[in-house]
Amino acid sequence: MIEILVANKSHVRYAETVCSLMYESALKRGTGIAKRSPEYIAKKMEEEKAIVVIDNDRLIGFSYIESWQHKRFVANSGLIVDPEYRNTGLARKIKRAIFDLSRKLYPEAKIFSITTGLAVMKLNSELGYVPVTFSELTDDDEFWKGCEGCRNYSILQENNRRMCLCTGMLYDPEKYKAAAVASEPDNNIKEIIHKKALSPKRIAQLKKNLRKIHLI
Ligand SMILES: CC(C)(COP(=O)(O)OP(=O)(O)OC[C@H]1O[C@@H](n2cnc3c(N)ncnc32)[C@H](O)[C@@H]1OP(=O)(O)O)[C@@H](O)C(=O)NCCC(=O)NCCS
Repeated sequence: MIEILVANKSHVRYAETVCSLMYESALKRGTGIAKRSPEYIAKKMEEEKAIVVIDNDRLIGFSYIESWQHKRFVANSGLIVDPEYRNTGLARKIKRAIFDLSRKLYPEAKIFSITTGLAVMKLNSELGYVPVTFSELTDDDEFWKGCEGCRNYSILQENNRRMCLCTGMLYDPEKYKAAAVASEPDNNIKEIIHKKALSPKRIAQLKKNLRKIHLI
């Protein structure tokens, strides 16, 4: 049975496996390795700020939460799926679970991500993240220090941290709420349509367009 769980101290024994999976995948992708020690991963598990996926005592997926700038920003990091279990929709489930956990623990925080991975961009978009410039992300030096292990770090430095090869993506709870309201059909527009002496055909056409906008 595959279980997707909020991690706790009982999962600390899987911390080494998480690091090995991350290390092997970084080697294969030829990317830099963000420094995450088994101790750091274990701490995240103990603090219940991580999601683990377990298949009969085998760890097959993971992600954890980090917070920055006095908890105003949150990042969901270290997403990894065991190669044998990829392309089965597991990352989508982990991303959903770690996102929900982040919203529960830090309801006011902006959630962000920097990535070059198409899969992660897709999954972030599904959750309501939008692409942003790095200026919209945290300016906490500790976060950017995490990029030091990446082979593109010199590019980030040359650009004074304004841009790099990664795409920045941000979920802003306030803007997300505003966007949801904006996508609702505007009753005022409906009223205007009724007040104006339009032909029934034109009204039907306008209403159809309104529904279309709502669906987008
Ligand atoms: C990236 C990773 C987490 C995806 O895990 P997964 O469980 O195979 O992903 P899912 O099956 O949930 O797929 C989710 C979506 O991403 C797409 N996707 C998955 N891997 C992809 C890849 N390598 N390239 C492009 N798209 C990919 C899937 O097609 C799917 O989209 P769809 O439903 O629209 O077809 C996994 O390959 C991995 O652990 N890679 C190494 C670590 C890594 O890159 N982590 C991200 C760091 S930012």
